[in-house]
Amino acid sequence: MRETTLSPSDLVLTTIITDSTASDGPVESLPGVSRLGLDALVEQASEAAALGIPAIALFPHIDPKLKDADATEALNPDGLVPQAIRRLKRDVPEVGVIVDVALDPFTDHGHDGVMDGDVIENDRTLDLLAKGAVILADAGADIVAPSDMMDGRIGAVRAALDEAGHDRTMILSYAAKYASSFYGPYRDAIGTSSALRGDKRTYQMDPANTDEAMHEVAMDLAEGADMVMIKPGLPYLDICARVKAEFAVPTFAFQVSGEYAMMQAASANGWVDGDRMLLETLTAFRRAGCDAVLTYGAIRAAKLLRG
Ligand code: PBG
Repeated sequence: MRETTLSPSDLVLTTIITDSTASDGPVESLPGVSRLGLDALVEQASEAAALGIPAIALFPHIDPKLKDADATEALNPDGLVPQAIRRLKRDVPEVGVIVDVALDPFTDHGHDGVMDGDVIENDRTLDLLAKGAVILADAGADIVAPSDMMDGRIGAVRAALDEAGHDRTMILSYAAKYASSFYGPYRDAIGTSSALRGDKRTYQMDPANTDEAMHEVAMDLAEGADMVMIKPGLPYLDICARVKAEFAVPTFAFQVSGEYAMMQAASANGWVDGDRMLLETLTAFRRAGCDAVLTYGAIRAAKLLRG
């Protein structure tokens, strides 16, 4: 009678990577998640592969000294993320590598775009995103995932990839990404929360909107997105269901840091059964129509599923 299935092959392992031993180790606001150096990353990726998880998504915590207003480090071909991609492709080639294309890990103000005073400069940002995406594809990324919510970014990234000969690199667009309170632990994890000036409401979506999400998805598909993502996940399952029903394209959801941290905190207090809750939430994503879920709990869930 069961209508929905959940298997490790539906999951993407979300990881935080770091370039220094000073910052590796547990993220306080994200229990169960550690910043990983490259050796530890390879170890986790191998474990994920052995459990049948098809892909891993990378988010970098870089040395604060490398951050500046123009996100210069995002264009360093020997930066942390390109190095991590090359290591994974060499040591765990069976795992697909998904990388964020966004400037926030690299800007000293913590925004996803370059700024003129208090204003995010959409079009100047597009140029940097496109160049950054080519560097990530050069390093071997299978899927690039623009997560910045600038208008026109999918078209700009697709054109730049094609021009550089990366016509087979896929684009997973964070198409409907809300200006959410659920990203707090992630911002701690990559070291932007203390620096972030203001909020991201001028480019991320209003949690009150649903038609706007359809416009965003339609634009990104028209510009060349291969897959679309809804983010956060659980509070936005109605959006997931509507996107899947209206567009019938590969639809991903991100069980973001705040969602994972809430479950971990309640579970640590003995208030809920954390393992059951993790599998229940992941099943709910599948029931809503999601083809894949990015989660910090992918390895844990895969182990539970394998019994
Ligand atoms: C921004 C970005 C965010 C996340 C990943 N990339 C959100 C933000 O800071 O606005 C959140 C991931 C999470 O909360 O787990 N490029």
